[in-house]
Amino acid sequence: MDRLVINDLELNDKRVLMRVDFNVPITDGKVTEDTRIQAAVKSIKKVIVDGGKLILMSHLGRPKGEPNQTFSLKPAAKRLSEILGKEVKMAGDCVGSEVESMVNALNPGDVLLLENTRFHKEETANDGEFSSQLAAFGDVFINDAFGTAHRAHASTVGVTKTIKECAAGYLLQAELENLNKLQEAPEKPFVAILGGAKVSDKIKVIQNLVTKVSSILVGGGMAYTFLKAQKIEIGNSLLDDEHLSLAHNTLVVADNPHPHKKFDFILPSDHTVASKSNMAEFKMNDSVSIADDWMGVDIGSKTIAAFKEKILNAKTVLWNGPMGIFENDNFAKGTMEIANAVAEATAKGAFTVVGGGDSVAAIEKAGIRDKISHVSTGGGASLEFMGGADLPGIMALTKAKKKA
Ligand code: 3PG
Repeated sequence: MDRLVINDLELNDKRVLMRVDFNVPITDGKVTEDTRIQAAVKSIKKVIVDGGKLILMSHLGRPKGEPNQTFSLKPAAKRLSEILGKEVKMAGDCVGSEVESMVNALNPGDVLLLENTRFHKEETANDGEFSSQLAAFGDVFINDAFGTAHRAHASTVGVTKTIKECAAGYLLQAELENLNKLQEAPEKPFVAILGGAKVSDKIKVIQNLVTKVSSILVGGGMAYTFLKAQKIEIGNSLLDDEHLSLAHNTLVVADNPHPHKKFDFILPSDHTVASKSNMAEFKMNDSVSIADDWMGVDIGSKTIAAFKEKILNAKTVLWNGPMGIFENDNFAKGTMEIANAVAEATAKGAFTVVGGGDSVAAIEKAGIRDKISHVSTGGGASLEFMGGADLPGIMALTKAKKKA
């Protein structure tokens, strides 16, 4: 990449300020899913081994700019300490004199986690003064928070204004390398599977992918807005009314692609539907249209077969968003079958990427997480990246000198 990376930095005896994304699920004071913590361990260990004094910062949830113990990072410090097998000191705040004393007392190889940066409204405002206070704790800065790279906040962008050397950590590098493979000359057939509730979340991804993909398969809640845009009856299924015309325009592009960039845009042709009044009442719906008082909750068997055929013949697969309400076992079949097909495609040699919190939960549920080429730690960040956006957290890193 054209930015500084962790291996470019001299870390010995340096105060290393590192932004991580420890925005992980926590229940009753315990981390219930630690993927994002595990994913940052490689960079963390590098700093420890190289004799740096590590100061970690992260946000957790959306505490609206004031301290709120529900969003404390203490459970994350405990989990990291278990993973590393060494003490992780926990600060009571992320700025102020007490934190400063803790930073000054660090020895090479020590690890300190600052409290949630979003306990201060200045974090999301990317406030200059607050950024300088954070930046004062580091001689060098490493960003390993891919999940937050789409946010221009004090701890992702503001700190880079005053720290001279700002580099990408290993997690950030791996994410960019893998996601870039999808953007730059992906091996064909390239199949994108998009699902989830909102059309608005995925529209940029679709627009960016139309010149790259062989097929776009659309399932989940967002599919009904596309069906409605084709004037198909969708009963009480989820409808993103606001984006109906955007969905319509996308279908027009799909129908009239550039002659050399032909791709299939495939919507569900059948569904599992549940009664509007009682979700426990559900049935197969063999036709594409859905009657009043019923709502689509999963893709049907004809659709599963059509999607699987595309996936199993693919050389590159991107999957973001479930095919139905898979949290409910009655409506999980479509999502589970797609997960297994993506795993099978990987085994046959395809390069496969899964991103987005719900899809990652789906591959966990299907037990095939380790059968995917790359599982992204970014939800919104991976969508924005796949939508073709420059992520501010990455753009803010120091440009690497061109090698002669
Ligand atoms: C995420 O979970 O997508 C990131 O941690 C960013 O969180 P945010 O959407 O609250 O900024």
